[in-house]
Amino acid sequence: MKAITVQDRAAGVGGMSLVDRPHPHAAENDVVVRVHAAGFTPGELEWPGTWTDRAGRDRTPSVPGHELSGVVAELGYGTTGLTVGQRVFGLADWTRNGSLAEFAAVEARNLAPLPADIDYTVGAALPISGLTAWQALFDHGRLEPGQTVLVHGAAGGVGSIAVQLAREAGATVIGTGRAHNREAALDLGVHSFVDLEADRLEDVGEVDLVLDVFGGEIGDRSAGVVRAGGTLVTIAGPPNAWPRDGRAIFFVVEADRARLADLAQRVRDGRLRVLVGAVHPLEEAAAAFAPGRRSQGKTIIRTI
Ligand SMILES: NC(=O)c1ccc[n+]([C@@H]2O[C@H](COP(=O)([O-])OP(=O)(O)OC[C@H]3O[C@@H](n4cnc5c(N)ncnc54)[C@H](OP(=O)(O)O)[C@@H]3O)[C@@H](O)[C@H]2O)c1
Repeated sequence: MKAITVQDRAAGVGGMSLVDRPHPHAAENDVVVRVHAAGFTPGELEWPGTWTDRAGRDRTPSVPGHELSGVVAELGYGTTGLTVGQRVFGLADWTRNGSLAEFAAVEARNLAPLPADIDYTVGAALPISGLTAWQALFDHGRLEPGQTVLVHGAAGGVGSIAVQLAREAGATVIGTGRAHNREAALDLGVHSFVDLEADRLEDVGEVDLVLDVFGGEIGDRSAGVVRAGGTLVTIAGPPNAWPRDGRAIFFVVEADRARLADLAQRVRDGRLRVLVGAVHPLEEAAAAFAPGRRSQGKTIIRTI
């Protein structure tokens, strides 16, 4: 099969190459998916699991990409809940070969059925952003109706979903980003927008919850706008700064079949819009993900 691999950490996205790889093996509880569409998360090549297996052993050359949609091609021994030929979408495992390939073997629990009226490109853009946004706001952030949430990167993959889910939950939503993200963020439903390159973050006053996707200096300063009893949830890395009288939480998104199905239902009934950007074939993956070559919305690779 054709696949994109990376071998050299220092080379970044520029080190992606299209190669022939053996067809993946369906281990116990695995599903081999004929990938139709795949997503790639900015920063993924920094994650340890891109380079090593669970035991920390080098596993290069590895196939990146942790979001996929496609059709079940094969089931491993003992795999239940899915059938060959079924449309599915979900996450590829962190420490195994991923979704920038014609076929990928993933654990069955990482996948959910993809309804027939949701396009494969949307199915590949939703899993990480959707699950991360949900888990950040509700599982870790304990967002409640009437509260105020600051969503960093409000027009980005995670932020765009978080804005919509928070609005639906009855929260007041402040979005951040760059000037060119303002219109998209307002369109998604933010009540107000902070241009981080022109406005002062501290001028938002106090909020109940911050969803930080940046870390660094912005993440540190974000702790200062959390009101007493509130929470800073960050997906960028372990926090360096804590709210005065509140919690700071870093987490990594977890697979959740039931939540994926719930997010898909929101897409079907129009409550949730998934921003799909440029769509490229597998051969163009390195160029598509090159720094500076990013479109508004998630860049998706189509393998069929
Ligand atoms: N821990 C986890 O489980 C987890 C899960 C998912 C993602 N992540 C991480 O979260 C981060 C965000 O992911 P994503 O998919 O949402 O990325 P994304 O689609 O690139 O979205 C980021 C958004 O923030 C904006 N932005 C970036 N840097 C900015 C800055 N300095 N000032 C103002 N705006 C800025 C971007 O605007 P432009 O359009 O101008 O670039 C974009 O709209 C990534 O680092 C990813 O690796 C972690």
